[in-house]
Amino acid sequence: MTESVDQYDQVATTFADVEAVISFVRENLEWPSFQELLGDLSGLRVLDVGCGEGSFTRRIKQLGAAQVVGTDLSPGMIALAEQAEARNPQGITYEVQDLATMPPQGEFDVVTAIHVLHYADTRKTMQTMANTMQANLKPGGRLVVLSANADSSEESETAAGFRTHRPANPQEGDKFKVAVLTTPPTEIEVHHWPTATIVDVLRTAGFTNIAWAPVKPSATVAPADQDRAARCAKNPTSLTLTATKP
Ligand SMILES: C[S@@+](CC[C@H](N)C(=O)[O-])C[C@H]1O[C@@H](n2cnc3c(N)ncnc32)[C@H](O)[C@@H]1O
Repeated sequence: MTESVDQYDQVATTFADVEAVISFVRENLEWPSFQELLGDLSGLRVLDVGCGEGSFTRRIKQLGAAQVVGTDLSPGMIALAEQAEARNPQGITYEVQDLATMPPQGEFDVVTAIHVLHYADTRKTMQTMANTMQANLKPGGRLVVLSANADSSEESETAAGFRTHRPANPQEGDKFKVAVLTTPPTEIEVHHWPTATIVDVLRTAGFTNIAWAPVKPSATVAPADQDRAARCAKNPTSLTLTATKP
């Protein structure tokens, strides 16, 4: 876990460069697909785990949520999120918390986890993360995840602005590097998690109605961007998942 603190405290210092590269896929595929799944959040309480500097956390609040809490392992990323909140107060609270060891923060209607599960280093850690997300939901609450696609194509990765360096024939939990194509590239270490493993882990945590779906281009992609968006969507770099706490 310490590894992730270090790497994201470093990323926090060059975050604007990383964001500029990945914004295409975030704006044209990821956020529209994720927002569609979230639906109307009016009056709901939302916990956004692994919130980073809070760009999606703020959008979640703007979907009408009554209360939003963002948690992240990295003090550097939480500092950026708090600075954004101080500049433009929305009533979001942030806390430095490791999802693998976090005590319950409350009973939320929705827990969101956006590009965070693939930092789990072992199946045991992944299980603890899943248990924690479940423990923070009220009965009937929803988990909404955006996560790396373990089977993404090289074409979609290039169109999205990064390269993955997976080992040949990767095994569950194997560590590998993702290079975001900033100048110089920004390397981040993540772990290989097949979708079937994540489903097993979520079932063990007590979730039901678990469903994966690929992200897809929004209907409002500008004509000049449609070719690139279509390349991003070919076996895309990220998938959405929804699940319910019975
Ligand atoms: C790719 S960033 C995504 C940030 C944010 N969710 C977004 O999409 O804008 C991954 C974030 O997960 C955080 N993270 C990694 N492992 C974590 C853990 N065990 N507990 C909480 N946060 C973690 C990192 O510090 C980093 O901020």
